[in-house]
Amino acid sequence: MKIEEVKSTTKTQRIAAHTHVKGLGLNENGTAIPIAAGLVGQEAGREAAGVIVELIKAKKMAGRAVLLAGPPGTGKTALALAIAQDLGNKVPFCPMVGSEVYSSEIKKTEVLMENFRRAIGLRIKEIKEVYEGEVTEMTPVETENPFGGYGKTVSHVIIGLKTIKGTKQLKLDPSIYESLQKEKVQIGDVIYIEANTGAVKRQGRSDTFATEYDLEAEQYVPLPKGEVHKKKEIVQDVTLHDLDVANARPQGGQDIMSMMGQLIKPKKTEITDKLRKEINKVVNKYIDQGIAELVPGVLFIDEVHMLDIECFTYLHRALESSLAPIVIFATNRGRCTIKGTEDIQSPHGMPLDLLDRIMIIRTLPYRIEDMIQIIKIRAHTEGIPIEDDCLQLLAEIGDKTTLRYAVQLLTPSSILARINGKDKINKEEIEECNDLFFDAKSSAKLLQEEEDKYLK
Ligand SMILES: Nc1ncnc2c1ncn2[C@@H]1O[C@H](COP(=O)(O)OP(=O)(O)O)[C@@H](O)[C@H]1O
Ligand SMILES: [Mg+2]
Repeated sequence: MKIEEVKSTTKTQRIAAHTHVKGLGLNENGTAIPIAAGLVGQEAGREAAGVIVELIKAKKMAGRAVLLAGPPGTGKTALALAIAQDLGNKVPFCPMVGSEVYSSEIKKTEVLMENFRRAIGLRIKEIKEVYEGEVTEMTPVETENPFGGYGKTVSHVIIGLKTIKGTKQLKLDPSIYESLQKEKVQIGDVIYIEANTGAVKRQGRSDTFATEYDLEAEQYVPLPKGEVHKKKEIVQDVTLHDLDVANARPQGGQDIMSMMGQLIKPKKTEITDKLRKEINKVVNKYIDQGIAELVPGVLFIDEVHMLDIECFTYLHRALESSLAPIVIFATNRGRCTIKGTEDIQSPHGMPLDLLDRIMIIRTLPYRIEDMIQIIKIRAHTEGIPIEDDCLQLLAEIGDKTTLRYAVQLLTPSSILARINGKDKINKEEIEECNDLFFDAKSSAKLLQEEEDKYLK
């Protein structure tokens, strides 16, 4: 099994509506600060979520599940993302929406299994031979393209590395130059290069540059101790899914036809049950030997009522396995029929035996004052200037409809304001937008009133 070159397969998240959420906003005792880390109100829910974060950090939650239940727009998704923020980026967090399981090409259980394994982390510690130091020089050496033509190619790279103890100049293969560029390495960065694989890792900016005017996102690291060439303990965080992908073999043999196929189609890899079992075996061996440590992360399944009975049965069984993440569900449904059954009614549309092992966190509708604050934060995050009395009006609209609807009115209102030649949103724009668009409830009501006019 290869471990060195595993690439992260973290999903890029669609969190545009929640960019202002930076954490749960709790103090050291776990009490919710009324407005903190981008979150407002919903104190009980936030404190309960804080307990979950503590349990996860203490590794007492694996194989357990939490349900966030509440009406639309009460911050369930926002809370789940805040949990992810508070867990930090060392704990895997895999968000998905219930409806993702439906596809004509992939089995529902396969989708669930893949996401399960994205949420289980493995921290691997290995001693490796590396060259480490602050980059003092980086010079690509070019030669004429040996195949003719006009271009030049990089034949090798000269790189200088400095530690407290000394400096070393290395001559590197052009492939390493590509990795250097991929990691955006610049002079003054601290990096290490693995001797065996040539993999490059940028650790941060050398702290001798810490006074330079720079983006706050920059991470500064001290000049490494010891020699440039040394043995170093390298910690790698990967997920089981990363390992699955890295070890999946490309389909087909090595004959010319399949090579042609690979040129045409994107390279297809297949992760089979057998492969996963093999990987589990190796992973368990590594854990036993103390080389690797299991880091159960979080699988977040939003809109869980979209799952059907087959998925629920599968999930229930998967939660029993020794390699299981923590699962956080969210739903805005009350009592309803479980998908995929004739007429089994159940709370939140989930089977009772699964519900039975779940801890439930309720989210409650917001007070007007809370909504004003949330809309204010959103307007600020989106860079939309708005009059104070408009916040009140939007909050009242949110109270009648949902918070999400009110938040969504911000952007079209700001566009209207610009058309009307204003630099701030006024009440008129909001009222006009509110007339132009319908929220779910009033649309449903209209449909009921005018039922006979629509096709059935
Ligand atoms: N307590 C809160 N503090 C700040 N923003 C919130 C809070 N609750 C919800 N929001 C924001 O309001 C909008 C709607 O909330 P959302 O989490 O999508 O609700 P739900 O998932 O319960 O339907 C989102 O933009 C969300 O980030
Ligand atoms: Mg939601």
